[in-house]
Amino acid sequence: MRFDDITAEQLFALGGSKWSRFGDAYGAFVAEMDFGLAEPIRAALHKMVDDGLSGYISPVWDQKLREATTAFVERRYGWTVDPGNVLASPDVLTGLMVTMEHHIKPDARVILPTPAYMPFMFLPGKANHDLVQVPMIRTENEWLLDFDAIDEVFQDGDLFILCNPHNPIGKVYTRDEMQRLSEIVDKHHGRVFNDEIHAPLTMPGVEFVPYPMVNEVAAGHTLTAMSASKAWNLAGYKCAQLVLNDEDLSHSHKFAFDLHGTATPGMLSNIAAFNEGEEWLAGVNDYLAANQQRLIELLAEELPGAVFVPNQGTYLAWLDLEALELEGKPSDFFLEKARVALTDGGACGDIGKHSVRLNFGTPRPVMEEMVRRMGEAVRSR
Ligand SMILES: Cc1ncc(COP(=O)(O)O)c(C=O)c1O
Repeated sequence: MRFDDITAEQLFALGGSKWSRFGDAYGAFVAEMDFGLAEPIRAALHKMVDDGLSGYISPVWDQKLREATTAFVERRYGWTVDPGNVLASPDVLTGLMVTMEHHIKPDARVILPTPAYMPFMFLPGKANHDLVQVPMIRTENEWLLDFDAIDEVFQDGDLFILCNPHNPIGKVYTRDEMQRLSEIVDKHHGRVFNDEIHAPLTMPGVEFVPYPMVNEVAAGHTLTAMSASKAWNLAGYKCAQLVLNDEDLSHSHKFAFDLHGTATPGMLSNIAAFNEGEEWLAGVNDYLAANQQRLIELLAEELPGAVFVPNQGTYLAWLDLEALELEGKPSDFFLEKARVALTDGGACGDIGKHSVRLNFGTPRPVMEEMVRRMGEAVRSR
């Protein structure tokens, strides 16, 4: 099916979380795409059911997942990883919790550039680590890390959360930026939790470099989390991968991942995505790039004054709506007046209170309707 032909009515009828949590509101919040499954993944899952594979995770599939993951990152980024350094986890956030529990000192703080993915704002507190927000700098056409501020707040042994591509701003970090970051982290004997869950989703012509590839130092202080869950829309099947260095692997906390095992559908669908899903992915990346172009036009027509720095990766658009002078939280305004459910920018850090995050991983006509509704709501205030 062509993605354009998928309708909002069909999406409501399917009843996924994005299309049911707010009743009849159009779903543009949670990071899910509306494009169905890639054929090789569908086939792998059907085969799993037909074969009656319903027991605990098998070491055979575990090994296949490690190999599929490392072959994928080698092919796509030229990143060589030993399959033995890959651990399966049910999801990326479990990887973060285990990192905070086992891989940093109890008094280490978590340094977070904002705007940030919402759970990064509250999970450190739940793991008894203080959070330090470091607002990013927005220029006319890009977002930048505030390296001086990061260097200033960093204390010995702190954990830096790097999200690349960066949810919610869609930034893909350059080699130079990551090189500079690695020097600061190293100077303070810190660690990096490197979240690359959105990595396969890049705009045409954008080069993605995994942070551990930047230099040996970066590789040494980093735990990398990834998954096929965003690029192939598999989050509900529960499977992510953690890449650890030898030293981290040798510690007892490997046990923590063994306990929090992943699920068979997650493993099998991730294996199929990494081994056979790149053709579908290329189509999705092209479609998202065209959606982003259309979004830029629509914003100019429907929401003049909205500021959007175009994404280099993923499908989450960060819209600064301060100039629109909306009353209350922008996300509440649009939920009520436009029946469009967006992510509240304030949940992404203090810097985001006038912003919303809009998910454009949806059929173009559906996205067009969302932005038109938003424009209409603003005009009829
Ligand atoms: C940057 C980022 N990290 C982590 C997650 C959560 O991933 P998981 O469901 O694997 O914990 C998301 C989900 O949207 C995300 O966007």
